[in-house]
Amino acid sequence: MQCDIKKISAEKTHAIRHPMLRQGRPIEDCVFDGDKDPQTIHLGAFIENKLVGILSAYQKNTSAFNVKESYQIRGVAVLTTAHRKGIGRALMAHIEQILQQRKIDLIWLNARITAVDFYTALAYQQKGNAFEIEGIGTHYCFYKILK
Ligand SMILES: CC(C)(COP(=O)(O)OP(=O)(O)OC[C@H]1O[C@@H](n2cnc3c(N)ncnc32)[C@H](O)[C@@H]1OP(=O)(O)O)[C@@H](O)C(=O)NCCC(=O)NCCS
Repeated sequence: MQCDIKKISAEKTHAIRHPMLRQGRPIEDCVFDGDKDPQTIHLGAFIENKLVGILSAYQKNTSAFNVKESYQIRGVAVLTTAHRKGIGRALMAHIEQILQQRKIDLIWLNARITAVDFYTALAYQQKGNAFEIEGIGTHYCFYKILK
């Protein structure tokens, strides 16, 4: 499905972060570390001017990867009514393009177990074993080297 992808503010992500990623929790839990950093990028996917999907990217290295500059992707979510229409894929492709232009070496993320098939379909590779994030559940680290 055709969607428009635009940069949005950190606050705008809350409309989807809350129901899709922090359901039943206080709205303050929708604020993530680094949301306001100047290097952070928040993307929104719009269908007929309605926000249906979000993604955020943070300039952050991790000891798991020995690269100069990497970005962590967090808060990837699409409204349930719009799943399996290619919106998540379009958001990921868009951020990969932006980060490639910025000469970033690598993208990494901690995937919920329910999103493993999604990142695998997008050619992300798994690194290491499963681990728990308190209050959210089992996760796996995934990454993609940008060329
Ligand atoms: C994960 C999520 C963002 C995927 O968004 P989406 O727009 O539905 O995904 P897409 O339609 O772009 O899917 C791209 C490909 O990923 C794979 N995929 C996506 N969702 C899948 C699922 N539930 N089961 C199996 N494969 C899946 C498929 O290969 C799909 O391609 P296809 O539909 O042509 O077969 C969405 O399911 C979501 O918001 N989930 C809840 C929040 C969440 O868990 N976010 C991830 C946090 S780490």
